[in-house]
Amino acid sequence: MEPILEGTVEVRSYLGLADERTLADDVLDGLTRPLKELPPKHLYDARGSELFDAICELPEYYQTRTERQILRTQAKPVVARTGAVELVELGSGSADKTRVLLDAMREAGTLRRYVPVDVSETTVRAAAARLIDDYPGLAVHGVIGDFERHLTHLPEPLGPRLFAFLGGTIGNFPPGSRRRFLRGLRKVMAPGDHLLLGTDVVKDPHVIEAAYDDSAGVTAQFNLNMLHVLNRELGANFDVDAFEHVAFFDRKREWIEMRLRAREEQHVRVEALNLDIDFSAREELRTEISAKFTPGRLRGDLAAAGLELVELYADPDKLFAVSLSRRR
Ligand code: SAH
Ligand code: TRP
Repeated sequence: MEPILEGTVEVRSYLGLADERTLADDVLDGLTRPLKELPPKHLYDARGSELFDAICELPEYYQTRTERQILRTQAKPVVARTGAVELVELGSGSADKTRVLLDAMREAGTLRRYVPVDVSETTVRAAAARLIDDYPGLAVHGVIGDFERHLTHLPEPLGPRLFAFLGGTIGNFPPGSRRRFLRGLRKVMAPGDHLLLGTDVVKDPHVIEAAYDDSAGVTAQFNLNMLHVLNRELGANFDVDAFEHVAFFDRKREWIEMRLRAREEQHVRVEALNLDIDFSAREELRTEISAKFTPGRLRGDLAAAGLELVELYADPDKLFAVSLSRRR
């Protein structure tokens, strides 16, 4: 009989004082521009991460359940093809869908380590604790950090790795940064490593818009939570009720935009930055884009980053796509 191994958890944080500066710098830079904008990573404090999990359960948010369905049918061939002993997941969040991949690796007998990378510390710690309970012998090496800056801190590989970037999060980069990100990712991939990438697909704009503006108002709360983060972390005095959630599909660029719109004129003080910001009535602050993909856009982005598509999986209704690629 195989000995039963202790699961081990090691969590390292690469977010430090410099990252409190990141929020401050992003606010200073983004809220003094003619078109106000903040990067989406600041949506995910503990409360934001909880709200995101609630979004994933909404009837309008087809992405999570569709991607899970695709993973269920394809995990086994993916694992067989990649021979991965290690799963490295970027923007891992609650790591629920991840289990489909971990199960397939366990069944194939290759599973050794899971490496979640996420800016949200509470999320990484909670997911790691649940996983070592459910996967005896699994080593979890959590990396709390920014996947745009901290991929150099991944642990030394134990063998062929499967990198996963799920949930359509790749769509949250604007096109140029998206390619830069993929190039950076390719650089840390070894020959023999693979990337499993979840991308939302271009479709009827009404279906997409509903997914980002649900009838229960959870997405609105998630978006507005960014203002609570600024109030708490930077001593700002946003009147959160004076802003409303806006989501629309930009048909030309084929991405959805999330914004916060001032219902009327607002004056905001950001104490930590000694900064005063004015919003005119109906002025908007962009908090996120979520780009939607065609096969051509996906191939183009992968190729520009030196990656080649191995397989492209979709659900029968073609709502979502999961691609497998490797270094060219
Ligand atoms: N993979 C999960 C969660 C997607 S939500 C799913 O598919 O449902 C996006 C996740 O990425 C969140 O957990 C968020 O905390 C994380 N995230 C966002 N920006 C990040 C960044 N710049 N660096 C690292 N993690 C980030
Ligand atoms: N990665 C998710 C997506 O693009 C994030 C997300 C879902 C999101 N709903 C949101 C971000 C609403 C901001 C507001 O689908």
